[in-house]
Amino acid sequence: MKIYITRMVPESGIKALKDKGYEVVVSLKDGVITKEELIAALKDQNYDALFCLLTDKIDGEVMDSFGPQLKVVANMAVGFDNIDVPEAKKRGIIITNTPGILTDTVAEHTFALMLAIAHRITEADKFTKDLKYQGWAPMLMLGNDLSGKTLGIVGLGRIGSRVAHHAAKGFEMKVLYYDVNRNEEFEKEFDAVYMPFDDLLKKSDFVSIHVPLLETTRHLINAEKLKLMKPTAYLVNTSRGPVVDEVALAYALKNNVIHGTALDVFEFEPKITPELLKLDNVILTPHIASATEETRSKMSSLAATNIIEALEGRTPPNMLKN
Ligand code: GLV
Repeated sequence: MKIYITRMVPESGIKALKDKGYEVVVSLKDGVITKEELIAALKDQNYDALFCLLTDKIDGEVMDSFGPQLKVVANMAVGFDNIDVPEAKKRGIIITNTPGILTDTVAEHTFALMLAIAHRITEADKFTKDLKYQGWAPMLMLGNDLSGKTLGIVGLGRIGSRVAHHAAKGFEMKVLYYDVNRNEEFEKEFDAVYMPFDDLLKKSDFVSIHVPLLETTRHLINAEKLKLMKPTAYLVNTSRGPVVDEVALAYALKNNVIHGTALDVFEFEPKITPELLKLDNVILTPHIASATEETRSKMSSLAATNIIEALEGRTPPNMLKN
């Protein structure tokens, strides 16, 4: 069996595949492989599986460049908007992702962002390192508490639920949520309240987004929705960039429509709307919400497990249904 990996990934996954006796080829490019480079690397090589990343766009043309023996495409990510799943289905190719194992890490990063923006951590760090600190002052860099505030969770999947857990149990925040499905068990456990999206935006002090990128979630947060939020509210996004209209967000932040934002993902990644780079009420991290040594190693292993299961004729644990 031959496996192609689109970029160097944590060793755990590569080792698992090699331990099976598979031939593993890793792209040597120190960066995202382009579609043309990927097609050139795959052509006439008879790979049985592709181990790919969320930065790789896997469409029908890429799938066809493998030849008919391609059995499985394993994405080392929970999101899979980079893969054309209907095209894979037409060709009988299995698609897998890596859910579950990154939930805690992404929830922690979401909380890190929420705490950092409300307590002005990055601003304060820069101020202090710039030697601007002249001594304690009663009005120096006042931020806002999380405790006792209202958190609106948009998308109650694994990650959204875990963020709600930390908010309700750790910070005694009031949790509101919006999702396509109601979850009454969750409501009971966290004293959470289900709300129409617009109502959640109007009532929340913090809004945290945890939806997948779909046609229905693209620009879910746009200029009109930002106007519904409180002028004191913060928006946190660790899901996918295009869920937020980034130009509208920059305008809202500059014009005090909302108070602040913390983003791990960007609409035109890796490009960032230039206005956002200039504002103090913005914290940006470079799509690292799942980037701990522990979790990235598990993600690499799980992607490999999905490939092994598919190639050995069993149903991979994280096979997408549609
Ligand atoms: C990261 O963004 C992922 O989808 O795993």
